[in-house]
Amino acid sequence: MLAPHKAGTRNPTPQRTDRRLGKIIQLLVDHATVVVSGTKIAEELGASRSEVWRLVQQLRTLGVEIAGHPATGYRLKAVPDLLLPDLLLPLLRGTIFSQHVHHYFKIGSTNLAAMEAAGTGAPEGSVFLAEQQTAGRGRGGHSWESTQSGIYCSVLLRPALPPSDALILSLAAGLAVEAAVRQIDSRVALDLKWPNDVLIEGKKFCGILTEMNAEATRVRHLVVGIGINVNQTSFPAELRPIATSLRIATGREWSRAELCAALLKSLDREYRDLLTKPGAQESILQRFQERSSSVRGQQVQVEENGGFEGVTEGLDTRGFLRLQTAEGLRVVLSGTVRPK
Ligand code: BTN
Repeated sequence: MLAPHKAGTRNPTPQRTDRRLGKIIQLLVDHATVVVSGTKIAEELGASRSEVWRLVQQLRTLGVEIAGHPATGYRLKAVPDLLLPDLLLPLLRGTIFSQHVHHYFKIGSTNLAAMEAAGTGAPEGSVFLAEQQTAGRGRGGHSWESTQSGIYCSVLLRPALPPSDALILSLAAGLAVEAAVRQIDSRVALDLKWPNDVLIEGKKFCGILTEMNAEATRVRHLVVGIGINVNQTSFPAELRPIATSLRIATGREWSRAELCAALLKSLDREYRDLLTKPGAQESILQRFQERSSSVRGQQVQVEENGGFEGVTEGLDTRGFLRLQTAEGLRVVLSGTVRPK
């Protein structure tokens, strides 16, 4: 959930995606039934035909299926399910995420990229998306398995909140994931686990890592990083008992682009409501408690401060977990909570 940013950790030279790659795909999608000449693409891009050929070859090595060559023109064999800004932006109009979408085919960590950009003045609403992470960060110093079939998304926010109130944003992100999945397929039964795992049949398919930079009384910036297992068909042996993907759970392939757009739209709604609507914080707490099977009445073990156990008793007004223990009521601020 909320973790201080680890100063000094660096993303090894993340290479932002050349915007022209997305533009080529968009052009081929817009003319899906015809062959588009290299000259037309070159004109649209303001590039030479040989440069177009080089970019097409680059797309092919990234798995995009394009038929043709410079002499015949190009045609998409299948619309690629990539999180490219040119494909996502039309779906994000009117949200705070519609202006600055950064895309990487491969990066260490989108959270780290977002935290670094925040430090150099990137605006609120900046989004960092990757097809793959090589050093995905999880909570509690764990890593996050980040192969090509998932969504790896970090958003930069600058809410006028004290740091002690920031947990509510993590809870809201869990609700946003839940709403996005439900919007696409309302038959999937989801469960929220405090503070912000999203589960299907007891297995995790989404994790959220919120990192922030704050003074004692105010958040300077905050990055909400969301990892969703979408189309993975298997996991390494050690993750198999605890991890799942939407594809494994539903038996069908999901559109990552559709899900990512739905997620950003629903996160935008939650965030705007939180900043502008009276009662939004209470609504987040109430909905989180309604959609979590474990936040009330569950015997749990908490791995924090040497470990302790108790029965969950809902959330307090800032979103922390209340626990009835042998020594009385305790409030869990962080740490891993496991069923006993
Ligand atoms: C968890 O441990 O449950 C949190 C996992 C968060 C993973 C996401 S993937 C996108 C973003 N970038 C990261 O390096 N981590 C978060």
